Amino acid sequence: MRYMQKSRLKLEKFKQKQAVRILAVETSCDETSCAVVENGRIVLSNIISSQVDFHRKFGGVVPEIASRKHIELIDHVVDDALEQAGMAPDGLDAVAVTSGPGLVGALLVGVSHAKAMAFALGIPLVGVHHIEGHICANFIQYEELVPPFLCLVVSGGHSHLVHVLDYGKYCIMGRTRDDAAGEAFDKVARTLGLGYPGGPNIEKLAEKGDPHAIEFPRTYLEKGSLDFSFSGLKTAVLNYMNSCSQRGEQVNRADVAASFQQAVVDVLVDKTVWAAQKAGVRIIALAGGVASNSRLREALSSRVREAGMEFRCPSRILCTDNAAMIGSAGYYRLIKGKISPLTLNAVASMEMDSY
Ligand code: KG4
Ligand code: ZN
Repeated sequence: MRYMQKSRLKLEKFKQKQAVRILAVETSCDETSCAVVENGRIVLSNIISSQVDFHRKFGGVVPEIASRKHIELIDHVVDDALEQAGMAPDGLDAVAVTSGPGLVGALLVGVSHAKAMAFALGIPLVGVHHIEGHICANFIQYEELVPPFLCLVVSGGHSHLVHVLDYGKYCIMGRTRDDAAGEAFDKVARTLGLGYPGGPNIEKLAEKGDPHAIEFPRTYLEKGSLDFSFSGLKTAVLNYMNSCSQRGEQVNRADVAASFQQAVVDVLVDKTVWAAQKAGVRIIALAGGVASNSRLREALSSRVREAGMEFRCPSRILCTDNAAMIGSAGYYRLIKGKISPLTLNAVASMEMDSY
């Protein structure tokens, strides 16, 4: 029987099953991760092997190295995820994988592995959009969370304000027009001579600085816009550093880090609350690598409460790249019949679709 027909028949059986278990794979950047997730909400295992030490000496992710490391690690990470979940491969119901956006060579490792597993086990394959995965990390953290809600997704590649209307139904209310928030953190970290990854290093240094020491610009764009722009802020930090050095002044790097972080947080918090008010939702969720930033978590949490809304934010390990979030997103696609063919390809840049 053809693979797609077989997968559709399996789907019918899932409707009667109490526990649908998905093996999920995430290799879009520099984390090789595999998880087993039950019914989109219960994490049976979530193995994350970070390559950060290999990339650190280059000051950022080297795509070629990332692909090679994924190839070396993927078998072990998948085995570990199954072992920790106490499962044999034949107990799996489907395989979910990040198919984009991301580094294409890195994505291809996960996509090829997932396809091979789905084909060998005769179970459905589900391609997942990485950003959709980040949003779904909230479903893992909060068992009771159901759409609609607004989600601010801030990562190394994206800054999106997403109105989650229903499972799989998204309306992007705002996005960055240039650098993503995480990208700005990484670039400013380089300017400050801090190593990769920039975000956590800036956060650490900022703890010793004054967030109001330097008045960096807050870019709000035209009136009513929910888009972001962080490249002007990044340039302002660079100009500030250069003018201090031209004047022979000593730079207080902790003050620069704290003031930069505060400028990013102020704009993210303001626009997120405006978007939620415009969408008419009562719940605001946070997602993506930058969501692990304490200043952002605290500032958004208190503004959301002041506005009489509820705040949701996944634990830090579910904010940065991990496969559990892909397993959650994969489950909601699967139960709506969104199965991928075995011709599924890795796509470096792709829009998040509703289904
Ligand atoms: O979601 P993620 O792990 O990968 C992508 O999908 O890009 O996000 C990585 C980004 C990097 O830019 C990193 O510097 C940033 O998230 N990041 C942080 C923090 N932890 C990670 N930014 C600010 N503060 C943090 N604590
Ligand atoms: Zn990510």
